[in-house]
Amino acid sequence: MSETKSDEGVVRLDPGRIKALRDEIRRHNRLYYVDDNPELPDGSYDRLFQELQALEAEHPELITAESPTQRVGDVPLDAFSQVEHEVPMLSLGNVFTDEDLAEFDRRVRDRLEGVESLEYCAEPKLDGLAISLLYENGKFTRSATRGDGRTGENITQNARTIKSIPLQLHGDDVPAVLEVRGEVYMPKAGFAKMNAELAARDEKTFVNPRNAAAGSLRVLDSRITATRPLTMYCYAVGRVEGGELPEGQFELLQQLKTWGLRVGPEVQKVNGVAGLQAYYRDIGERRESLPYEIDGVVYKVNRFDWQRELGFVSRAPRWATAHKFPAQEEITLLRSVDFQVGRTGALTPTARLEPVFVGGVTVSNATLHNIGEIRRKDVRIGDTVVVRRAGDVIPEVVRAIIERRPVDAVEIELPTECPECGSAVEQPEGEAVARCSGGLVCAAQRKAALQHFASRKALDVEGLGDKLVEQLVEADKVKTPADLFRLTADDYAGMERMGKKSATKLVAALNKAKITTLGRFLFSLGISNVGESTASALAEHFGDLPALSEATEEQLIEVADVGPIVAAHVHAFFAEPRNQQVISDLQALGLEWPVAESTNRGDSLVGKVFVITGTLPDMTRDDAKALIVGQGGKVTGSVSKKTDYLLAGEAAGSKLEKAEALGVEVISANDLLNMLP
Ligand code: IVH
Repeated sequence: MSETKSDEGVVRLDPGRIKALRDEIRRHNRLYYVDDNPELPDGSYDRLFQELQALEAEHPELITAESPTQRVGDVPLDAFSQVEHEVPMLSLGNVFTDEDLAEFDRRVRDRLEGVESLEYCAEPKLDGLAISLLYENGKFTRSATRGDGRTGENITQNARTIKSIPLQLHGDDVPAVLEVRGEVYMPKAGFAKMNAELAARDEKTFVNPRNAAAGSLRVLDSRITATRPLTMYCYAVGRVEGGELPEGQFELLQQLKTWGLRVGPEVQKVNGVAGLQAYYRDIGERRESLPYEIDGVVYKVNRFDWQRELGFVSRAPRWATAHKFPAQEEITLLRSVDFQVGRTGALTPTARLEPVFVGGVTVSNATLHNIGEIRRKDVRIGDTVVVRRAGDVIPEVVRAIIERRPVDAVEIELPTECPECGSAVEQPEGEAVARCSGGLVCAAQRKAALQHFASRKALDVEGLGDKLVEQLVEADKVKTPADLFRLTADDYAGMERMGKKSATKLVAALNKAKITTLGRFLFSLGISNVGESTASALAEHFGDLPALSEATEEQLIEVADVGPIVAAHVHAFFAEPRNQQVISDLQALGLEWPVAESTNRGDSLVGKVFVITGTLPDMTRDDAKALIVGQGGKVTGSVSKKTDYLLAGEAAGSKLEKAEALGVEVISANDLLNMLP
């Protein structure tokens, strides 16, 4: 313990403890925020932090500005004061093409007279905002935005709250005065999470990570900044006094790291134009997967003596340039919207745009995702919209620029009928996606619906795989599931890689599949949001089809596990006469579910928890599961102390070992059958 209570109850402080705690916490902050390489689990770190907070609460006179506890923000300012940059904060020239780049390199080499191939430091060009950090005797004393390059705003209070900015530099070779520069940015993940939280609280969201970073850093209330996921990468030094810096950019960045400043991992030394191009391509290919947004890369002549020799033109250095990527966002006009029906029946609105060059290609169509998104973003036909195309991702309409909305802009209407098959379109309340309700008849959904219908957990038609369904649909032989039972072996034998023998087998399999259970049948209909377990819950609750298909949404909600959205989907499905037609066709063709299912039911295994593993003789694991569940038992995925029985077949592996270790009873398929009434 750091403090000892004397007999009189007076707390005496061990003065070394506060310093030791601060050093230790600083070290862990560096590992976590700067090196991305944490050593301690969060809980252990929190304990150190809380101990320091407690000591400081008892001894406020010992609190210093550099203490790791002093990052929560301070009382709001009335305005930011101005900071003059002693060394101006410059901007960069741009190149966009390989020719521009070669020209840049040639100009630099010409000026340096006789340099054959130049060494460059290549860095990502982060899309955030540039700030400076001033350290005096290793202590953080001031931070400023770039502003116009000569004067910026004093944002010291806000910068203090950014955990990756050290309040105290590390090491005994830190210059007396060091002004570091870099980019504050918001990582993509943090941006998405923060926006989701803002939206959940009905607060205004930010349009992109750059705006979010700027909006979070340039607020007068630093307590707000403290809650925002900002971080920083350092890339330059402005002023240095009373200390030595390395001779080149890359080496400088390595030095900054040793002092505890955060430097990007993608920084590299490369040679000549070929090296720059390779770097540009490599970063370009990885752009989407980087955890932060970049709008290009930056090349800097590595040697500082050469940088000094090259100097500046107007506000940009001759020794550096930015190589920009094609913009990922552009604005254009939204001319009209079409709805397309996907294979699951979802209606996806597609924006027809005035063609625009974005993300390296000309885009004239972009997704609006779903009708819910359209309403949320309030996008209208005639609007000027922001279109985004990032990497290989489908172009999307990000938002409308409301300020540019013409008076005759029109709201986008959801069609009432499916553009593909004319069935009713439904959008349950609370659902963003609208769907065609004609699951069994809609051409857009045909392949997916039939493949699902025949799949193992649905009607389980052996020999009717996805490929064959595709052929049958493309050859226009099958439109609805009922057609599958109308085709003869001769019809099937006409298909690719289908001999007479397998065609006969397939017809037999179809006949066999006609005898099913209501639960399987319901599942096979492919009603949206109705999975296997919901299907069997519905079957169990209603007992037979007529009762279910006539049920109101209120009655459907009474079924355990059925919420309003599922209820709406089920109701809409049975309300569509063409779906009903297919169902009665199927029944006329001999499809049935003997109500025997319910006589199989019992309660002999209520309260018993089973795990099934390995290959069972004479039954599938699904069959075994059905037997257990039919008797009120439960089947879970992993063995624990709560497991009553492990049903083990051939080649049971780790689950068997675990069951034995835990003393769980291991049974065979035969044992299970004997347990049934
Ligand atoms: S160096 C003298 N390096 O780009 C060179 N800038 O267009 C000054 N930026 O204001 C800047 N990443 O906000 C440099 N690795 C990087 C950068 C970078 C992003 C931004 C910075 C600067 C702007 C210039």
